Amino acid sequence: MPTDRPSGYRFDQERIAGLIATYRHGGPLPRDFYIDAEVFQADMDRIWSRYWLYVGHACMLPNPGDWMTWKIGLSSIVVVRGRDGQIRAFHNTCRHRGARVCNEETGNSRGFRCPYHGWAYDLEGKLTTRTMAEFGVPESTLGLHPVRLRDTSGILWINLSDDPVPFDGAHEDLASRLKHQGLYDAKVAVERRYTVKANWKLVFENNRECLHCPVAHPEYTSGTYDVARVMPGLAEGVVKQTELANARFRALGIDTGDAFSAMTGAFWRSHRTPLMEGWKTQSLGGTPVAPLMGHFRDRNTWSDGTLRTTVFPNFWQHASDDHAVSTRITPIDAATCEIVVWWFVHKDAVEGRDYDPAKLTPFWERTSEQDWFICEANQQGVTSPRYVPGPYSRTQEGNVQHFVDWYLGEMAGGSPKAQAAE
Ligand code: FES
Ligand SMILES: [Fe+2]
Repeated sequence: MPTDRPSGYRFDQERIAGLIATYRHGGPLPRDFYIDAEVFQADMDRIWSRYWLYVGHACMLPNPGDWMTWKIGLSSIVVVRGRDGQIRAFHNTCRHRGARVCNEETGNSRGFRCPYHGWAYDLEGKLTTRTMAEFGVPESTLGLHPVRLRDTSGILWINLSDDPVPFDGAHEDLASRLKHQGLYDAKVAVERRYTVKANWKLVFENNRECLHCPVAHPEYTSGTYDVARVMPGLAEGVVKQTELANARFRALGIDTGDAFSAMTGAFWRSHRTPLMEGWKTQSLGGTPVAPLMGHFRDRNTWSDGTLRTTVFPNFWQHASDDHAVSTRITPIDAATCEIVVWWFVHKDAVEGRDYDPAKLTPFWERTSEQDWFICEANQQGVTSPRYVPGPYSRTQEGNVQHFVDWYLGEMAGGSPKAQAAE
């Protein structure tokens, strides 16, 4: 029988356990995991209500009073910079009769005023409307419910759980690399929003392999050296190129990487990789598209590499020396995601003078849209009753297997590996 969970989602745990038991290692998930409404409820409970979710960047809220909202599953969250400069997150639900308080996506205000009966909250979530005489309870008991928030070198995560998955290990590992990219001193140059008709896991599985890159991504393949690792005979060259790049990265005083996109943690990875010979950045042709950022700006030097960061279940970023591109996945239902892609440049860069959106965006815009197309084709195909999970490549889809193993471990009740990695 389906039962209500504290998260607000409803599913039959025995049925989910039975589905998990049907999985055969070495290939993708059975059909129900991609199309079934009850599995979607279980995903929202087991994964999305326990994990740290990428909401946006600190630089998107530069001034006190700046706020943004994010609707994730049954919840709406408001993230706001207070007068003290601290960024906090709250449930966007009035403590009177529950109306949504902030009804725009972004804004700047001195506080929040509920549109229903006008209760007012300050930027720290404290109720400022007097309630004792009229409602019989002191206002101090009725602030907006806080949401846990972490800031990793300018990347903001929220967590909806009272018992969140440990994040310290991920935070330290990611911060040690991301700190070089200058994400606090950045601004959004371009935003693209997509509705992608695919299950969120198909979108993430697609991100976790590059076996499809030579087939689907002409732009990405032309600029990204390690795509050659999927081509027989070229893998050795990739290792050599990575060694050369690592020597360059070391001389710059930044972290190094590996040639095989290995995970650096149980549910995250972040590592630096070289670009194709002669490429400075991930643009069409590899020519610079914006002023240098972060460590590279300070040293006035290019690393000719990128930092790739991925965090399950909803974030990845490709940071070049002159810009960064972040992707946020928001699941809508079993067959739909909303995806936002943000391009960041240095905060002082001026559009038209220092960067041109028409040159900044195509590399990742085209690559992303190519991915959404194949993810939607994947969703259409797995919906067929004749879909049977096929075999993963033994050499090129190990990271997809890792994702599926992580997912099933969490769905079965929590991954010991995720805990141990902390
Ligand atoms: S519901 Fe917000 S003031 Fe009444
Ligand atoms: Fe792709």
